[in-house]
Amino acid sequence: MAKRFANKSAFITGASSGIGAAVAEALAREGARVALAARRIEKLDDVRKRVESASGVALPVVCDVRDKASLDEAVRKTVEAFGGIDIVLANAGFGVVGQFARLDTDAFRAQFETNVFGVINTIYAALPHLLESKGRLGIVSSVQGRVAMPSSSPYTASKFAVYGLAESLYHELAPKGVSVVCIQPGFVASEIRKVDNNGVFEARRRESAPNGLIVPVEKAARDIVDALYRRHFDAVITGHAKLIAGLSRHFPRLTRAIILKSTGGNVDPRDKPKRRSPSKTP
Ligand SMILES: NC(=O)c1ccc[n+]([C@@H]2O[C@H](COP(=O)([O-])OP(=O)(O)OC[C@H]3O[C@@H](n4cnc5c(N)ncnc54)[C@H](OP(=O)(O)O)[C@@H]3O)[C@@H](O)[C@H]2O)c1
Repeated sequence: MAKRFANKSAFITGASSGIGAAVAEALAREGARVALAARRIEKLDDVRKRVESASGVALPVVCDVRDKASLDEAVRKTVEAFGGIDIVLANAGFGVVGQFARLDTDAFRAQFETNVFGVINTIYAALPHLLESKGRLGIVSSVQGRVAMPSSSPYTASKFAVYGLAESLYHELAPKGVSVVCIQPGFVASEIRKVDNNGVFEARRRESAPNGLIVPVEKAARDIVDALYRRHFDAVITGHAKLIAGLSRHFPRLTRAIILKSTGGNVDPRDKPKRRSPSKTP
């Protein structure tokens, strides 16, 4: 079968782990040369080896999406190696969670620096090359960029922001031949729920998402690659996310009522009222 991205090149942020790494491998299997951008070089090297062992071409480029200069340099190295960029996936992100009252302005600022300004930095660095190739821009939001959940107001707000950014750019870039695809995953197996509010990975953290709702990252990556190929704006990934996004679009009040009823306004275990130990006296 013909490879859908033969002779194309991709620049992927957050490619050292989870969704970004899996999309890099999937795009490489479809013929694309992939630039792998993130901070942890040893993890990028693992992904490079996996791509190369499947006869693909990968270029690790260390960068921090909060730092525009390091993104400019990563894009420059990519263009130098591949001759241009046809696909950009602005994917790097993490989640600041907890009840609003426990957090502060700095927590919001840190969340927005990576999840929102990191995406903006990526787009400014790569856009001239996408305009030249009439390429594809994938922006990773979340189903939480469409439906708000309690105990994660910084993450939810950042993903709503990214959804709005993507939709605005869809209108601006379509006439110029660049498609924008806004990727909105539900629960996907990755490191994200093991990363703390400072963006640090903690191996001993437990997966907090309900087991039955977590989709394997390879399946999510295949769906993301299909969405990029089709150039359709809305790409809601996982059946559970499609259900919630659909319910919220058609029945917003009902969806809010269900979420409030089922969460009690708080899904942070630290704030759940502790069970009283049974009293010894009547
Ligand atoms: N998994 C899910 O259930 C889910 C659901 C909805 C949306 N998403 C979104 O999907 C995206 C990818 O997350 P994931 O689930 O694959 O999580 P992950 O396994 O934790 O991967 C996050 C990636 O982002 C990179 N990253 C974080 N901060 C960075 C920075 N400042 N500069 C450069 N790279 C940075 C990390 O690499 P380094 O640490 O090496 O820099 C890593 O490669 C995120 O935007 C997330 O919000 C995930």
